[in-house]
Amino acid sequence: MSKVALVTGGTRGIGAAISTALRDAGYTVAANYAGNDEKANAFKAETGIAVSKFDVSDFDAVSAAIQQIEVDLGPVEILINNAGITRDGTMHKMSAEQWQQVVDTNLGSCFNCSRAVIEGMRSRKWGRIVNIGSINGQAGQYGQVNYAAAKSGIHGFTKALAQENAKLGITVNAIAPGYIDTDMVRAVPEAVLEKIIATIPVGRLGAASEIADSVLFLVNNAFATGTTLSINGGQHMY
Ligand code: CAA
Repeated sequence: MSKVALVTGGTRGIGAAISTALRDAGYTVAANYAGNDEKANAFKAETGIAVSKFDVSDFDAVSAAIQQIEVDLGPVEILINNAGITRDGTMHKMSAEQWQQVVDTNLGSCFNCSRAVIEGMRSRKWGRIVNIGSINGQAGQYGQVNYAAAKSGIHGFTKALAQENAKLGITVNAIAPGYIDTDMVRAVPEAVLEKIIATIPVGRLGAASEIADSVLFLVNNAFATGTTLSINGGQHMY
């Protein structure tokens, strides 16, 4: 039986590319989504990938949904914490809600989903967790204190969880994508986005498939743990 991979936010954008790449590599994939039933059903029809609707920021909803996925498909052995949202705005205009939604959805979700699968991975002595961070968690970004803080938190979360589980055959890594051609990035005002693209040495937005390739690399590599792969067209080097 093929291993089961859960991809949060797995029906659109970078997540959709990761879900299909894992399916093509022979894994049984469950793609989570939060609200867009139409897109999720179209994705399911097009790819044959199972979809699962739950709010990654809700601990109890996550636990219940992952239990159900495990009954339906088998134990989750690969977890890709990809779900994320933006609520951009300068901090002096930011509401508490804009802050909390982004922290809970982008960072809280990593705890909620990893907590639901980690005991099983530990008992089976094998697991892969890949967290999708961001260049903006590494370098900061004007208008994104909420997003930058949450994504930066993902990088610390990754290193701590990697240390706790390295002896048990479980690797925990992060990817820090730069600006990738997705709905999320296209929502940035065009004039602002043009200026951002001008700062990318490669001279273009990244493709979602270029992040998906990196996920497969990390899933296939037993010796890489606690690391962050920066895939950003040279926009931020460190
Ligand atoms: N550095 C310095 N100053 C900046 C700046 C920057 N990067 N961006 C804007 N400013 C300045 C502007 O020049 C302007 O100054 P003046 O008033 O002196 O002309 C001032 O800030 C106000 O700028 P805006 O008109 O843009 O202000 P706004 O309130 O309408 O919008 C904003 C602010 C929502 C943050 C908007 O600038 C924006 O959307 N920025 C892009 C944020 C971004 O990159 N989001 C990434 C989303 S994709 C993603 O997050 C995926 C990923 O992981 C990479």
